[in-house]
Amino acid sequence: MKAFPQQPTYTGFNEPSRVEADVCDLEVEGELPLDLNGTYYRVGPDPQYAPRLGSDIYFNGDGMVSMFRFKNGRVDLKSRYVRTDKFKLEQEAGHALFGAYRNPWSDDPAVQGKNRGTANTNIVFHNGQLLALKEDSPPVAMDPDTLETIGNWDFNGKLSSQTFTAHPKIDPQTGEMVCFGYSATGVDTPDIAYYVVGPTGEIVHEVWIKSPYNCMIHDFGVTRDFVIFPIVPVVSSAERAKAGRPTFGWDGTKDIYLGVMPRRGTARDVRWFRAPNQFASHVMNAFNEGSKVHIDMPRAESNMFPFFPDISGKPFDRERAAARVTRWTLDFNSKGDTFEARQMTSLVGDFPRIDDRYAMESYRHGYLCVSDLTKPYDALRGGSITGMFINCLGHIDLATGKHEEYFVGPTSTLQEPVFIPKSATAAEGEGYLAVLANRHEELRSDLLILDAQRLADGPIATVHLPVRLRQGLHGNWVPATAA
Ligand SMILES: [Fe+2]
Repeated sequence: MKAFPQQPTYTGFNEPSRVEADVCDLEVEGELPLDLNGTYYRVGPDPQYAPRLGSDIYFNGDGMVSMFRFKNGRVDLKSRYVRTDKFKLEQEAGHALFGAYRNPWSDDPAVQGKNRGTANTNIVFHNGQLLALKEDSPPVAMDPDTLETIGNWDFNGKLSSQTFTAHPKIDPQTGEMVCFGYSATGVDTPDIAYYVVGPTGEIVHEVWIKSPYNCMIHDFGVTRDFVIFPIVPVVSSAERAKAGRPTFGWDGTKDIYLGVMPRRGTARDVRWFRAPNQFASHVMNAFNEGSKVHIDMPRAESNMFPFFPDISGKPFDRERAAARVTRWTLDFNSKGDTFEARQMTSLVGDFPRIDDRYAMESYRHGYLCVSDLTKPYDALRGGSITGMFINCLGHIDLATGKHEEYFVGPTSTLQEPVFIPKSATAAEGEGYLAVLANRHEELRSDLLILDAQRLADGPIATVHLPVRLRQGLHGNWVPATAA
């Protein structure tokens, strides 16, 4: 096969690994708690072939799923590519056939109209199914034990949208999966298809609504009674895509919107609230107190994604891209269309997580990847970092506003953490954080286990991997009792 280009996206820690691993009983420094009993699944981009167009953005790589299975103080690793339609077609051809991110007009004519999904963004477990997700395509089902790809999952033929979010929300009380697809009728369309999937995997509620403008809707908020669609101007344009420019770009002139609807509402019930131009992408949690709806998101003054450039040609502004968790509050029954904003922490970062047992309700503890530029980074030993620079793990106590940080050291960075409760009945926040550390000097990965209530103390166990897991996107914990 053709060599990958010598570009930051494909070299150093980012060099595609393409390794499907099975490692039994990983080496552990410290002690793995005996109550860690279950599986941590995570996924990230790991391109199978050199990019068709000579370069590509990191987010367009093929999905590689890793699974860490914990039991009796031991942990095994398994990693497998998701055998997407794209993966199989390209493997057969022996080279890349699909072109730029979310740009079907840049594909080899031989694959026109084929499913472009890479399944590289999130991996969730619902109704006994493991689903690998990419927001431009339907879920891909995998065997939760072997990681064999089962195939595209369309909810027994009921998925009417062409797309499915990488951030569905599973209700810890009802077992429902609340989800949506945007650009639901194709690239650069305003259609949002909203679904409630019952605990047995059937679509039980479906609503089609239109976004105020065509844009990326990466995540959304779900409370006990409402759903919230954040509309942020990472805008799409088929014209730009056809001209060979990025499909998505930042529009610094447009307002943001929060589209709010009762969970079992209809398109007529949607209310649009608005605020001046700003950026937000991920949702930490959302909850409501009667008609008062709160959604917590890392919020920045401007675009956080340099690879989706400003459509007016303005250069990327790193300072204005700094995100801090902010609580937006609106009243669904109010006459106006405005909402309030309250910054919840001074920590700068993204990839927010919670104790998922408290999803959709009032909660106290939040965790996130933090970029702390007051801490040293040794570029001579670690090499340069491309993309988001995550050197700390943060815990925010939303009740007191206090925070705690764990610094991973001057030659390492971190991936998204996952919270693991000590037991099903443990109090909120009583448990562990599992997080992959990228060891840039050694070009290797470690999985760190921290006490979620004592982050500053550092890991209680460090699981040494003999392989490198490229920077991933999202993952989830599945307790042994649920599998
Ligand atoms: Fe995400």
